[in-house]
Amino acid sequence: MAKFRTLDDIDVRGKRVLLRADLNVPVKGGVVTDATRIERLTPTIEALIKKGAKVIVMSHFGRPDGRPDPAYSLKPLVAPLSKAIGGREVVFASDCIGEEAKRVVAALHPGQIALLENLRFHKGEEENSSSFARALAELGDIYVDDAFSAAHRAHASIAALAHLLPAAAGKLMEAELAALSAALESPVRPVLALVGGAKVSTKLDLLRFVIGKVDVLAIGGAMANTLLFAEGTEIGRSLCERDMADNARRLLAMARERNCRVILPEDAVVAAELAPKTTNRTVAVDAVPDDMMILDIGPKTVAGISAALEEARTLVWNGPLGAFETAPFDQGTVALAKKVAQLTQAGKLLSVAGGGDTVAALAAAGLTGELSYVSTAGGAFLEWLEGRELPGVAALAATAQITRTGDAR
Ligand code: 3PG
Ligand code: MG
Repeated sequence: MAKFRTLDDIDVRGKRVLLRADLNVPVKGGVVTDATRIERLTPTIEALIKKGAKVIVMSHFGRPDGRPDPAYSLKPLVAPLSKAIGGREVVFASDCIGEEAKRVVAALHPGQIALLENLRFHKGEEENSSSFARALAELGDIYVDDAFSAAHRAHASIAALAHLLPAAAGKLMEAELAALSAALESPVRPVLALVGGAKVSTKLDLLRFVIGKVDVLAIGGAMANTLLFAEGTEIGRSLCERDMADNARRLLAMARERNCRVILPEDAVVAAELAPKTTNRTVAVDAVPDDMMILDIGPKTVAGISAALEEARTLVWNGPLGAFETAPFDQGTVALAKKVAQLTQAGKLLSVAGGGDTVAALAAAGLTGELSYVSTAGGAFLEWLEGRELPGVAALAATAQITRTGDAR
């Protein structure tokens, strides 16, 4: 795992700490519908307050494209943020740089918290502009990055800023990286990857990387249809990327070469249309009627993957295994989530899951708290599973190295 400084390595007493958070949470009609990212940020804020820091929270929200847009204001996040930290006051600055931000920050006492307006109201954020990063740096003495879920973005508040102030990882960033490292960098074997989702085309890099890392790869979701089709199975009207057949065959060949066992569905739940409670039945994957589509994995497949999970010591999971938003096609995903939860709780499995749909499926099943670790990240989790360097993590590691070299002198 990349080495970086943590909150334990920095002295923040009386200092202005610029805390990069990811408050890009789902909001409907001004109300936060899932506060997970806010709640997972609180240990860092609380630790900083306890140490007597002045905490200045900054985040992006949505994609306002470099212009102020009230629809993307972070102001509605003041109350939920305050609630998550025990009702403490959160002062809002209506701009993230300049006189207004400086005024709000200058008025902070140790232990107080400010929230800056959306970073993406300035073009410099997404452009990773050094002048925008300098304008942010003027507001703080120390930089703490707790936005793992935005670490795949080389933006000013994530990349450039980390080099302008003493930088450290927050507790959520640390926890995310520790979990991911335990799952793939130095895992207890055997390792099983459970990968679902609609398309092989969007997960080619992920599958290639994972095949090189894990002992067993179990695939579900519509992407399994493409692999089945590539191997000559007729799959009726199922969602399938026929033009990806060559890529799919290459992946399967690569898995054979690397001794990675691939589990594809043996049976499937099929229906004539994707609609709630539509008539459905379970068939073997080589017996899918011409006018039907595969919408979930069947019970034999669930049993097969469950048996592999029993053998595994580590699991990394990304992607639902069926059309989980539409009952009853959530059953395969829920059955495996329960199995994973049970093995994890029995101390037999270290389980790490991430990605927007996966996290939603686990939450819907009420099982989020039963896994070893559920990431707050969507895109960043995927890019990490593709083996890519995340700019946010790289920046923290680079700044830590500068210090270590300095220390050695
Ligand atoms: C996310 O929700 O995935 C992160 O906050 C990053 O947001 P973005 O995809 O708009 O960059
Ligand atoms: Mg995203």
